[in-house]
Amino acid sequence: MTDRPDRRSFLGSAGSLAAVLALPRVREVAAMQAPAIRRAPPAQPAAISSANSLAPVTRTAELVLQGTDTLDAAVEGVKIQELDPKDDSVGYGGLPNADGVVQLDCSCMHGPTRRAGAVGALEGIKTPSEVARLVLKYTNHILLVGEGARRFALSYGFKEEDLLTPESRQKWLVWRANRGPDDDWLQVPDKEPMVVRPTGTINLNVVSPSGDISSITTTSGLAWKLPGRVGDSAIAGAGQYTDNEIGAAGSTGRGESNIMVCGGFLTVEAMRRGLKPTDACLETLRRAVAMSPARLVDEKGRPKFGLTFYAVNKRGEFGAASMFPGRYAVHDGKDARFVDTAYLYERTK
Ligand code: GLY
Repeated sequence: MTDRPDRRSFLGSAGSLAAVLALPRVREVAAMQAPAIRRAPPAQPAAISSANSLAPVTRTAELVLQGTDTLDAAVEGVKIQELDPKDDSVGYGGLPNADGVVQLDCSCMHGPTRRAGAVGALEGIKTPSEVARLVLKYTNHILLVGEGARRFALSYGFKEEDLLTPESRQKWLVWRANRGPDDDWLQVPDKEPMVVRPTGTINLNVVSPSGDISSITTTSGLAWKLPGRVGDSAIAGAGQYTDNEIGAAGSTGRGESNIMVCGGFLTVEAMRRGLKPTDACLETLRRAVAMSPARLVDEKGRPKFGLTFYAVNKRGEFGAASMFPGRYAVHDGKDARFVDTAYLYERTK
């Protein structure tokens, strides 16, 4: 038995005829069922990044204005710094780990195809951004690390090189020689002990005139880190995140504190709820402070570490916020400049 009436008895009953006449016509049904056409809202192109990246945002914006894909443009942008021996925060010339070995992290996301790629603790390759993009494009995976990531890069013809420059090696030697009064190294003369541990990173987020979005974060990580340490930059959702319908966000600063809050993702989700980019970044920073263990905050509850978030939305609005006053690099489709970040705390001595 079936619940469906046969065609004759269905059409034969007056009640059923009324029901048929009340049905919407085929064209109307099609119109009701067709998915809404999602027109991309007019976007203001924008590329934003950390303060060491005026040249990268400029290059990225130039390329997207010429019609280059957003991720390809972002990779071309950050490569400028990765290849620059004077930038000791990324790529060639990046500060090494405790053993004096440069280990690089990078992740990227491509909004239009909803794909991600990343490498962690990659040695010997100057441009981890290009390797992360290859993981995104040609593999069924998202993150390759260490020896596997290096061999993957070599299979594409990358040249293996010493990533230490004379300057970065010298900084590491000074750090090694000044580790503590009981170490077996004699103090390097005429040098201040390196009490600070530099971190430097590039996060770059870009939105094209048609509203497509990509993000990338690249770094040599925390200087003098434990060998094998991978930070937030290699982790999609933490170091950077893109949702092509909403926006992109990423970070620089203490990676462990960002990983604890999945900050790239959290910031994009805040924009999904309607927050402007700057407010979304501030909200994520507050969460990072709230999630900090006692050893990382002072007696007033202020963080003992730096962290900055950068965000763009699909309309090309942008913002950034940091724990303490700072600035970031912006190209708004017209020109490049530095902009002050919003911040949570005044700097103390
Ligand atoms: N945010 C960069 C790092 O912690 O490695």
